[in-house]
Amino acid sequence: MRHLMSPLDFTVEELDKIFDLAGEIEKDPKRFAHVCDGKKLATCFYEPSTRTRLSFEAAMMNLGGNVIGFSEASSSSAAKGESVSDTIRVISCYADICAMRHPKEGAPMVAASKSLIPVINAGDGGHQHPTQTLTDLLTIRSLKGRLGGYTIGLCGDLKFGRTVHSLIRALLRYDNIHFVFISPEELKIPDYIIDELNEKNASYEEVIKLDDVMGKLDILYMTRVQRERFFNEEDYIRLKNFYILTKEKMLLAKPDMIVLHPLPRVNEISVEVDDDPRAAYFKQAQYGVYVRMALIMTLLNLEA
Ligand code: CP
Repeated sequence: MRHLMSPLDFTVEELDKIFDLAGEIEKDPKRFAHVCDGKKLATCFYEPSTRTRLSFEAAMMNLGGNVIGFSEASSSSAAKGESVSDTIRVISCYADICAMRHPKEGAPMVAASKSLIPVINAGDGGHQHPTQTLTDLLTIRSLKGRLGGYTIGLCGDLKFGRTVHSLIRALLRYDNIHFVFISPEELKIPDYIIDELNEKNASYEEVIKLDDVMGKLDILYMTRVQRERFFNEEDYIRLKNFYILTKEKMLLAKPDMIVLHPLPRVNEISVEVDDDPRAAYFKQAQYGVYVRMALIMTLLNLEA
């Protein structure tokens, strides 16, 4: 039995298989409509979510399966003090696979250690968000045709943004990527990730101004300032509008650059950018369903 805690849990070859399967699903979804007949997914979300929870639920339903779960800790027995370990042992009696989001870093890992069913980390604190990374990689592969050989700018809250931390680690396994980290001083990428970049001799630079680097990016990955992880509201208010991607800024970008964002967005991408053909963030959300369908099939060892 396998769990998914980090995007590195799969080899590059295994990821390619998952992305190939997601591509087949995109082309011919009907062929997969009964793969999970009789199976149940439990979505255990101790933190708010729209995309991750609902795309997991849509994925399981598209495969013919059913869904049980809770969308906030207060509506589960966590509110009465139940541990994650006990919860997953019980859920193992009810479902075939579980997607878990938790504000505490490592909580899905604790669950996996006690679980009788595959557990998928659907985001743990500021740590990892592996299925968002799978979504991001599939989007890049589909829209750019490759997973290496480009300059990617990651912009915004690089300190608390778990999607960024997961994505960088996953991209470090591909060749010829230049990382441009664009953030205010207070929201710089954590030192432990810089150490990993240095260990792997990765090519990177850290800048504050987006305009200065816009013209050299093949991919711009925007992120939201993570209000829920700030220790005080004043800092959040000071930093929340540090970057706003506008139509004018898009004039500085390459004609084939793509803009990604894990969403939800707050102010960091102006809605007027949505009509730009380079804005790929809603397509990215659609890829999230295909890749989660492929992931569920992979972890349950199912074929169409
Ligand atoms: N991208 C993402 O994780 O969105 P949700 O928080 O809505 O699940």
